[in-house]
Amino acid sequence: MPDLVRRLRDHGQERLADALDGLEGPARARLAAQVQALDLGQIQGLVRDLVLGGGGEAAPGELGPAEVVRLPRTDADRDRERRAREAGEEALREGAVAAVLLAGGQGTRLGFAAPKGMFPFAPVSGRTLFAQHAASVEAVRARYGCDLPWYLMTSPQNDEDTREFLADCGSFGLPPDSVQPFVQGTMPAVDLRTGDILREAPDRLALSPDGHGGLLAALRRHGLLDEMRSRGIRVIYTFQVDNPLVRVARPELIGHHLLGGAQMSSVVVAKTGPSERMGVVATVDGRTAVVEYSDLPDELAEAREPDGGLRYWAGSIAVHCIDLAFAERLTGGGLALPFHRAVKKVRHVDDSGSVVDPAEPNAVKFETFIFDALPLAERTVTVEAERGEEFSPIKNAEGADSPASAARDVAARAARWLAAAGVAVPRDPDGAPLHPVEIDPRLALDPGELAERVPPGLVIGGPTILGPERLPRG
Ligand code: UTP
Repeated sequence: MPDLVRRLRDHGQERLADALDGLEGPARARLAAQVQALDLGQIQGLVRDLVLGGGGEAAPGELGPAEVVRLPRTDADRDRERRAREAGEEALREGAVAAVLLAGGQGTRLGFAAPKGMFPFAPVSGRTLFAQHAASVEAVRARYGCDLPWYLMTSPQNDEDTREFLADCGSFGLPPDSVQPFVQGTMPAVDLRTGDILREAPDRLALSPDGHGGLLAALRRHGLLDEMRSRGIRVIYTFQVDNPLVRVARPELIGHHLLGGAQMSSVVVAKTGPSERMGVVATVDGRTAVVEYSDLPDELAEAREPDGGLRYWAGSIAVHCIDLAFAERLTGGGLALPFHRAVKKVRHVDDSGSVVDPAEPNAVKFETFIFDALPLAERTVTVEAERGEEFSPIKNAEGADSPASAARDVAARAARWLAAAGVAVPRDPDGAPLHPVEIDPRLALDPGELAERVPPGLVIGGPTILGPERLPRG
């Protein structure tokens, strides 16, 4: 134990050393166990570079627009899209794809007490985000007659609630060995001014999830990369919990990824305007990267091409295909994703053990981002999708990217698909659908499937759920 206290002092963590030294018995053992698990050398480096050094991250390199497979416009484009779809479908039929849901976030902006996946987003049924993603997984399994193992990344903060919910919902009817939650890693929050590691209780560190970039290391740590290999998986398809419109294991993306020989691929949509707070896929010093909106200077965010379009238009919707061999290489030692700093309000205890509830941001959290693997890939593919078809995230309690905007977009997509299938959709004078409609992914994953399966003579006379007879719980 004196060793541990000395190691803390050696790494500039005097206050935590004193706090540990001042504890006794089980409380001391609990805090010691948490401190043992820290990489103090790494934290010292991060404090030096990202906290005491003024917080500046390395200046971005030379920026250029990304090369993107645009939405198909010409016959040649459509032909390319068909080939991609076929290649993706073949990979799905072979069982070479794993679906990985990132659900370890804290969802602080939404302010929902339970894990975000339990948020009842659906405008008519009130079904949860987890249930929606599960229905998509089930639909893809049925369509391609494949095993599509579904891995869900949780955090220590929401793991238990997530597992309980999955169990309560009977894993949404999916085979239990195909639904696999796993916990991501954590990092301690440090004081914004001093770099001291904070404690949330006298005998507990203030730990938080290490960012969605923790995905690959967590998969490796839990032996899941090996499991994927033994299942014959080649492509890891990642998506975020907060997007109810997301297309899970969309064959076109998988196909573009495979045909392009990519190690990592991304989906983008056109930004609504220069100021939309969305990371863009671009090139940095010639390598593909996502540049966060906060790192894109205004004059670049507003830069236009000769045709008037935004130069940096390609907003990332955080859907990626990652080659399994690339994930193994990234986690095999030697390569590491960089940490970023996030300045947040963190409740903690002071030296006397009293709780401090800060009114202003007081702490730095360290996070890695999954998209930081892009520049490490030899080859990448970036594919454009239509926003209204695939992206409407629930981030904020109200306004843009909120439950209200997502409910509107879910209903608008359903109305478009119905209209394309020849069903009359009553609309208000502004063109918005009069009644919300939900289409269960197990009925239709796309407009073509809906057109084949829509009940004959369907009349939309009020809020409607179109789905298989019996909806699973959740
Ligand atoms: P966000 O960047 O929106 O973060 O995560 P968040 O923590 O969910 O929400 P705020 O910022 O506190 O409001 C984008 C996606 O990445 C996942 C989230 O669950 C979401 O699907 N994520 C984020 C993780 O899985 N782990 C993390 O450590 C962070």
